[in-house]
Amino acid sequence: MTAMVEEHFEHTLEKDQRIEPRDWVPEGYRKTMIRMMAQHAHSEIIGMQPEGNWITRAPSLRRKAILLAKVQDEAGHGLYLYSATETLGADRTDLTERLIDGKQKYSSIFNYPTLTFADVGVIGWLVDGAAICNQVPLCRSSYGPYARAMIRICKEESFHQRQGYELLMTMMKGTQAQRDMVQDAVNRWWWPSLMMFGPPDTDSPNTAQSMAWRIKRHTNDELRQRFVDMTVPQADILGVTLPDPDLRWNAERGHYDFGEVDWAEFKQVVSGNGPCNAQRVEHRRRAHEDGAWVREAAAAHAAKRQGSIA
Ligand SMILES: [Fe+2]
Ligand SMILES: [Fe+2]
Repeated sequence: MTAMVEEHFEHTLEKDQRIEPRDWVPEGYRKTMIRMMAQHAHSEIIGMQPEGNWITRAPSLRRKAILLAKVQDEAGHGLYLYSATETLGADRTDLTERLIDGKQKYSSIFNYPTLTFADVGVIGWLVDGAAICNQVPLCRSSYGPYARAMIRICKEESFHQRQGYELLMTMMKGTQAQRDMVQDAVNRWWWPSLMMFGPPDTDSPNTAQSMAWRIKRHTNDELRQRFVDMTVPQADILGVTLPDPDLRWNAERGHYDFGEVDWAEFKQVVSGNGPCNAQRVEHRRRAHEDGAWVREAAAAHAAKRQGSIA
């Protein structure tokens, strides 16, 4: 019996087909998938905060409507992904508790502050842009519910990226003060965006197994390079400088060379010492506590309905 289900798992991967919730999976695969989807879900939810910070101060009705729609999309992504983790037996309440107790991580990018409205544009352009690079290959991830969630999420991420770029284009055509604001935001977000792809391949112990299980399709460094190659021409069109003196086209490689990411800073932020870590988690904890009455009411309603059916 065990041999048969193991064979089914291996064959499914070999044929590049999807693993579904009904299928047997090795315990390591289940754990890795849950950890990956939970971290992704947490990132979507925590990621609402830096931009949510600007909704009440958006400069026009149009910008406010766009930003609201984007932040709501992120909430949807989070909920979608929590549901996907439940197909592997994870419990959503438990995942939320792990997030607010600091036992599970979210993308370190969201621990940086949003200082001006230009940050909204730069997050859309760079952060959602990096998320797209990461997530497009995940549409072919071996776990069916995750891969299918990614298809829809990527469509919405591409709207997020465009609204950011369009906002920056508008600001760059404005006053000198607006252009300075955009450049300042780019200077602050460029390096953290490169960190979004995770540690270098030489320091990424889980990558090989994740690739063998076809959970991941490319290494961190491959995706980082892809992002840099895609973004440099966009920065030129925009008229901003990327804050890296080592950034230049390498005709031999057919890629842009770029400088060394400050991995010490990355480690500091991941381990909880970034500028906004405490604030982000505290805000999430408060929101969770404030929502207790909704969960209680929903449970009472469900119990009542069950009573009336029985
Ligand atoms: Fe998202
Ligand atoms: Fe997004």
